[in-house]
Amino acid sequence: MMEKDIERVLFSEEELKTRVAELGAQITRDYQGKKPIIISILRGSYIFMADLTRQINLPCTIDFMAVSSYGSGTTSSGQVKIVKDLSENIEGRDVLVVEDILDSGNTLSYLLEILKARRVASVKLCTLLDKPARRTKDVHADYVGYTVPDYFVVGYGLDYAEYYRNLPYIGILKPEVYEGH
Ligand code: IMP
Ligand code: MG
Repeated sequence: MMEKDIERVLFSEEELKTRVAELGAQITRDYQGKKPIIISILRGSYIFMADLTRQINLPCTIDFMAVSSYGSGTTSSGQVKIVKDLSENIEGRDVLVVEDILDSGNTLSYLLEILKARRVASVKLCTLLDKPARRTKDVHADYVGYTVPDYFVVGYGLDYAEYYRNLPYIGILKPEVYEGH
């Protein structure tokens, strides 16, 4: 069972639902009259993306991008690689990037530069979690679900070594699960 590896629940299913609805409403207000393209960074943001986009009441398109930076550990390797690029041309579009967690900022500082270089009208970032304690790059999120302390968290899309993504809540992983790895 996955539950035995969880130290405690940080954000319950109900809390997440409420917060995601608030973010969706805010984005809907801010993008009035626009038709943004909403880009999910795979795989961590897949659940947040599905819930968030259903709370955004705007004409919009969606696309997906996959980058690798972590391997199976709990700290960033500093190396970022595009594993899957967008399907759509984003020139002239208002781009909203949806990410699970902003940690060191490595992944997003690299990604946002790549997207800006594609002559977009605007780029904004929405992250479910912000972990500023470990930031090494100057990345600013326009929409943040929750600011969290330096715990390693899993669930609601977030993984450890690709597992736990399907937990419906966000929980703190017991350090004994990853210590020694
Ligand atoms: P960054 O490049 O260090 O900002 O790392 C961002 C990525 O690291 C996220 O998209 C996650 O995949 C992963 N990550 C960072 N912290 C956590 C965590 O606490 N739990 C699960 N994944 C994390
Ligand atoms: Mg990720």
